[in-house]
Amino acid sequence: MVIDYQERIPNNIDLAGNATLQRALEHWQPRFLDWWRDMGPSDFLEADVYLRTATSVDAKGWASWGAVKMPDYRWGIFLAEPEPDRTIGFGDVMGTPAWQQVPGEHRTTLRRLIVTQGDTEPASVEQQRLLGHTAPSLYDLRSLFQVNVEEGRHLWAMVYLLHAYFGRDGREEAEALLARHSGDADQPRILSTFNEPIEDWLSFFLFTYFTDRDGKFQLMSLAESGFDPLARTCRFMLMEEAHHMMVGVNGVTRVVARTLEAMKALKTEEPDKLRAAGVVDLPTLQRYLNFWFSSSLDLFGAEVSSNAAAYFATGIKGRPDEGHYDDHVCRDGALAVETPEGALNVPLRNAMNEVTRQAYIKDCDSGVQRWSKMIADAGFAFRLALPSPRFHRTIGAWANRFVDPSGKPVGEAAWQARRDEWLPSAADRAFVKSLMRPVTAPGKVAGWIAAPERGVNRLPADYEYVRLA
Ligand SMILES: [Fe+2]
Ligand SMILES: [Fe+2]
Repeated sequence: MVIDYQERIPNNIDLAGNATLQRALEHWQPRFLDWWRDMGPSDFLEADVYLRTATSVDAKGWASWGAVKMPDYRWGIFLAEPEPDRTIGFGDVMGTPAWQQVPGEHRTTLRRLIVTQGDTEPASVEQQRLLGHTAPSLYDLRSLFQVNVEEGRHLWAMVYLLHAYFGRDGREEAEALLARHSGDADQPRILSTFNEPIEDWLSFFLFTYFTDRDGKFQLMSLAESGFDPLARTCRFMLMEEAHHMMVGVNGVTRVVARTLEAMKALKTEEPDKLRAAGVVDLPTLQRYLNFWFSSSLDLFGAEVSSNAAAYFATGIKGRPDEGHYDDHVCRDGALAVETPEGALNVPLRNAMNEVTRQAYIKDCDSGVQRWSKMIADAGFAFRLALPSPRFHRTIGAWANRFVDPSGKPVGEAAWQARRDEWLPSAADRAFVKSLMRPVTAPGKVAGWIAAPERGVNRLPADYEYVRLA
């Protein structure tokens, strides 16, 4: 098959003028499409989905909209516009010119960071591949597929960097990104959060709220990178990422709204009565929140990290919104970090993971506060809250410590005895799964979630966003 790559791969990297890169992508693209067919959304290859496609980097009109079969989606390659004479904004190399090629001494580190970021993108598509069968509405089904195709595009973005800047080992890494699979016993995805199954829509909404938000913070850190093509790629990906988090915000908000409606109608906060009415009781929502928040916190890495210090010092990875800080060198400062052994005064550069995690936690909290306000406004006492960052960690100072959601060490026996109060139990998962029945009539919505307040791209909420084949 002859493919017109100018037509098929929208780009602003002058793909037509780069024969080597074009050949590499011609080789990789059929493998990507095979992967999409095997590991992407199951059974929806023929459906017409109303999708946004990135077609330029103009902030005012960077996407086009229309009905597309997902295998025909035009996965493009876009870098944000270059900043003329950009210099690095932090670390020991602050003020020196950004790198347009990979510096030899940073080649291995940059490749690893790009591969780790790239690995999460197809991983999430794999995690979500069965969700299409139980979508609560066509609106939600469209949202899922929009997130999926854009994570596919983020993979393209990372594969572009590997092919264009890392030669033969970059090409091998690009192949490996399609060979690892989420949850696979032999070749799992790199980060454990991306091996967790997402088998219900409550998990999907919490994943997009918490884990795509981690993605935002990682992209913001890499958008500061001295390696300019990486920085520009990440800056453009952030435009799409905002939508993924909105899917999570709106999804959880609609779950809370529907549950409050049932609580008011039945005049009860009792989980059993609410479950019998077919809605997600708030303590169950809290347990799902605890799970995805704690799992996503691990993605920021250890509180004390010599790698993080080296990334910062050498200009490879900055802090999100580096421009908002006063000190961009951070040679002297320190951060007090709580560990089970007491507070540690950590040199600021070594505490960069924790600095970013704290900014992330603040960002996460705003939505949780709004949901709690909805509950308060409805006249109920229950409040949703983020658990302590010490709770249920598998990486860093608090890894595998038996700490309750308030952050208090409780000992292993007590923790195990109370685990099901804090994290989704098998019974919770079975209940939530029992709610997952597909609703496919335009404008109709499953009983466990409120209808969306408005449609997509100024279309009505009852538009047929997915035409099933
Ligand atoms: Fe992404
Ligand atoms: Fe995302």
